[in-house]
Amino acid sequence: MKKTIVSAKHVKKIYGGKGNLFPALGGVDLTVNEGEFIGIMGPSGSGKSTMLNILATIDQATSGEIIVDGVNINVMKEHELSEFRRNKLGFIFQDYNLLDTLTVKENIILPLALSKTDVTELENRVALIAEKFNITELLSKYPYQISGGQKQRTAAARAIITRPSIVLADEPTGALDSKAATDLLQALTSLNEVDGATILIVTHDAFAASFCRRVLFLRDGEIFTEIVKGDHPRKVFFKKILDVLTVLGGNANDAV
Ligand SMILES: Nc1ncnc2c1ncn2[C@@H]1O[C@H](COP(=O)(O)OP(=O)(O)O)[C@@H](O)[C@H]1O
Ligand SMILES: [Mg+2]
Repeated sequence: MKKTIVSAKHVKKIYGGKGNLFPALGGVDLTVNEGEFIGIMGPSGSGKSTMLNILATIDQATSGEIIVDGVNINVMKEHELSEFRRNKLGFIFQDYNLLDTLTVKENIILPLALSKTDVTELENRVALIAEKFNITELLSKYPYQISGGQKQRTAAARAIITRPSIVLADEPTGALDSKAATDLLQALTSLNEVDGATILIVTHDAFAASFCRRVLFLRDGEIFTEIVKGDHPRKVFFKKILDVLTVLGGNANDAV
């Protein structure tokens, strides 16, 4: 049986304080097994980022149990969490979050700056990952010298340099044109299929979600349904996703 990477049970998140409570998540259950490529979809405000941020240990659930790679993250202290984040999680954000004063290569190895990884090992890892994301030629450039798509592939390379247990991405294609989005999604697919990486992306974009193998749909902070790609080609899965979005009350264009 596959190892369970995420086991989240009855996750609730209530924002606000006295007299002004807003339930963003109403009791979400989510299991992610090793090697899965999962998408979380849903209209704007449905709780996608909240769920991702809780799994990412950036935000805290109001209640519920969340185990990530065998660790109960609810009960961890802040200093333990930052180490856990650094060692076990890889992040890709919509706006790349690269450091402008570092080269592409320096950005990619940044998560290993505090580790004792030896130089040869580092060089080997960077070379392999850069090839995978087609950014080998860019390694000595600075972020302002490269395109949005290249920045996001750099961010993806940075996310996996530590060999995290799971890669988490919030709207990773949100700022990309369709060619750049496709390049990123194909690279993530290869990372999943060839290297066995476990990936969870949050997206409002049916095209992006169609690269996933399983897609969960959130509505008003609850899981509405989920669909699995199975043996279907990506284009068929894309249509199925659009069908669910129609039922959900958003469509591919306005479900932001
Ligand atoms: N820090 C916050 N304080 C109060 N309400 C919040 C906060 N973050 C998110 N929300 C609310 O929680 C709901 C879910 O937000 P979010 O998870 O960002 O949705 P999504 O990513 O699906 O668009 C929204 O209604 C949003 O306004
Ligand atoms: Mg969001």
